[in-house]
Amino acid sequence: MLAPLISSASAFVVTFSKPPKGAEVLKVVVSGTRVAEGWKIRTERFTERQAFTEPTSVVAGNPEGSIDPWIASRFRQVLVQTPEADVQMLRTFKGPHVKVSTKRLLPSKKNWESVAVDRVKQKALTSENDAAFLIALDLATPDGKIKASMADKFRQVNHLLATFVPSVGARPRLAPSDEPYRVVDAGCGKAYLSLSLMYVLQRDGIQASLRGIDANQHVVDHCTHIAQQIGLRNTQFVCTRIADAVAAAGCDLLIALHACDTATDEAIALGISMKAEMMLIAPCCHHEVQKQLHKELVPEYVRPLLDDGITKERLGDLVTDTMRRDILRALGYEAHLEEFISLEHTQKNILIRAELTNSNEQDRLQWADRVRASILAWGAQPRLMSMVELPR
Ligand SMILES: C[S@@+](CC[C@H](N)C(=O)[O-])C[C@H]1O[C@@H](n2cnc3c(N)ncnc32)[C@H](O)[C@@H]1O
Repeated sequence: MLAPLISSASAFVVTFSKPPKGAEVLKVVVSGTRVAEGWKIRTERFTERQAFTEPTSVVAGNPEGSIDPWIASRFRQVLVQTPEADVQMLRTFKGPHVKVSTKRLLPSKKNWESVAVDRVKQKALTSENDAAFLIALDLATPDGKIKASMADKFRQVNHLLATFVPSVGARPRLAPSDEPYRVVDAGCGKAYLSLSLMYVLQRDGIQASLRGIDANQHVVDHCTHIAQQIGLRNTQFVCTRIADAVAAAGCDLLIALHACDTATDEAIALGISMKAEMMLIAPCCHHEVQKQLHKELVPEYVRPLLDDGITKERLGDLVTDTMRRDILRALGYEAHLEEFISLEHTQKNILIRAELTNSNEQDRLQWADRVRASILAWGAQPRLMSMVELPR
């Protein structure tokens, strides 16, 4: 049933998830747009630590060939989205036999006219092509060379642009031509990433808007000035705590990079309340859970990990972020922890990547139960728990 569904559509996104045990590739997203020559296809593969985007290709004739290899692999969940219908397939494998149950879901909500996987022409910033922008952002010297002190920041920005700008083009409901792509940067600081994202999107002709939020008036003024200097449209920076920010309706991408301690929880809660389609969260210092971890409260076999400060700190980080991830899952997000950038550049290199899905109620309840069980096991919970309501 998959082939007729996608080959009769003007566009499709097929997401393969729930991989077989031990698989290296955990998720695959194949997106297709009908063009004069056939189909423009983009494939993204996600492993535990990285996301890989294959170069866009054009195939003549039917597009099924691009999903067949993944159909043949043993992913248990396949979500097909087209402008006409969304269909979820759940597959159970018993030896060579496959049992498939199929469910029709509400179709993806926005117009698919502008599915344009080729719109993001050049995602990376280079000192050759984007010198004026990089100088304005203070990443480059007046002669356009990347500053040595900003090299790590420049690398991070380019890595993130490479990772998720393709998603902007590949997920059509995120980039309709008649509505701007709405970005919120919570705890934006100098907003290196979100200003770069706006610059790249507008450079490539994609309508976008940005709301940067920070509690520090100085950085808000700084960012406002830079946005004006670069000539970015639809860009606004507001001075407020994230927890007090207005949860404006609709957000396509919420970014929170290294927002301090529980400001990350505030950012995730804001994304949830705005029903953000995608969130990219790189947590910073974690104190909240660490303070709650006590030897007498955790299982005996975990106690040695609390003997030294460094192991307690890292354990606290991991417990916090896995709980944040599972809370997101319980609230309908497909969420993963990924490597943000290699460890040599920053110790704080975990990225929580979350995408709003049509996950079923049963799955959400299971994740909610798992969160509650983790809280009991660790005797600790992230601040996020007090900001959201899990399903029961
Ligand atoms: C470490 S900086 C990161 C800045 C930027 N996101 C980046 O990665 O370059 C953290 C920023 O979060 C802001 N911040 C911290 N807690 C906040 C809160 N509760 N509400 C709003 N902003 C907050 C700080 O003022 C600071 O600008």
